[in-house]
Amino acid sequence: MQIKTQKELVEILFKAEQVRFMDFVLSHEGDYAISDADWNYKDIPHLKYVHQLLDVDSSFIHNDYMSVILFQKVFGFKVPLVFFNYQSGKDRQTYYTSLLFFVMIVETSYESIHKNRTKVNTKYCIGAKGVVAFFLPLFFSFIKHAITKNHKHLMTEDIPMRERRGLLRAWGYRFKGDDKPYGFAETCHIYEPNVIPPEDCKKEPVEKTVFIDQELSHEGSLVLIGRSDMHGMSIQRQGQDLLFFPRLCPHEGACLDQKQTGGMMICPWHGRKFKPLATLSLNKEGFHQIGDYEISVRQNTLHIASKA
Ligand code: FES
Ligand SMILES: [Fe+2]
Repeated sequence: MQIKTQKELVEILFKAEQVRFMDFVLSHEGDYAISDADWNYKDIPHLKYVHQLLDVDSSFIHNDYMSVILFQKVFGFKVPLVFFNYQSGKDRQTYYTSLLFFVMIVETSYESIHKNRTKVNTKYCIGAKGVVAFFLPLFFSFIKHAITKNHKHLMTEDIPMRERRGLLRAWGYRFKGDDKPYGFAETCHIYEPNVIPPEDCKKEPVEKTVFIDQELSHEGSLVLIGRSDMHGMSIQRQGQDLLFFPRLCPHEGACLDQKQTGGMMICPWHGRKFKPLATLSLNKEGFHQIGDYEISVRQNTLHIASKA
């Protein structure tokens, strides 16, 4: 198998077709690991759930490469683009597409600043041939402006995903993709538990009294217990019931602190659905063990304490 980098593709197209290129680089540095950036750029299912600018209509997905037809909003118009995306080396992905007279070859690479801090560089090469190439410098600032705007918008949705994993790493968590980077197809297995908790996973001790007529007074009210990790829980009111949900998605670590839908929690990253860990009736007093907590319902109060 031959795998070409962006630089090689640009050279080949220049020699064979006299395609002339102009380029620019967009960078982001943040508190996450290289493997979080690698996963985020390969992760197919988040395109549908996290990115509002993208409509993914069909795709061919293999572990080493993928092809996707997507509709991207550009200046208010949904523009169809076919992307081919592949891993072109360690910590590097290359993808390309074309639109009208232009070809775009993009390469994203990651460098570690330190353990949980990474810099991601994305280099865009825009090419054209013939008379259009002559006018490319005129189009270039317009194309660069449109891509930069789009990139910034996508990053407002992608960076929180990476930084959420960076936060879990700061708490000692790891991910299966750290040891062996995921393939594109593997990212679609949303029922895999890929979050690895620390061996000495510390629980924050909880002792809390919740006044139901204040904090859980109406449909949809929500109370958070513990930390947003494998030990945390959210409590949500649905009619005369209290629903208990986890706060961490075991697939890739999304935070689940949001409102349930129809009695189910839907992961905001990839749409995995969770039933409640337990459902308690407000009309029935009693003592329960749910997850890591002992919970008693009595006279309009909920008393929650970590299990000893
Ligand atoms: S993180 Fe993937 S389904 Fe929740
Ligand atoms: Fe993304």
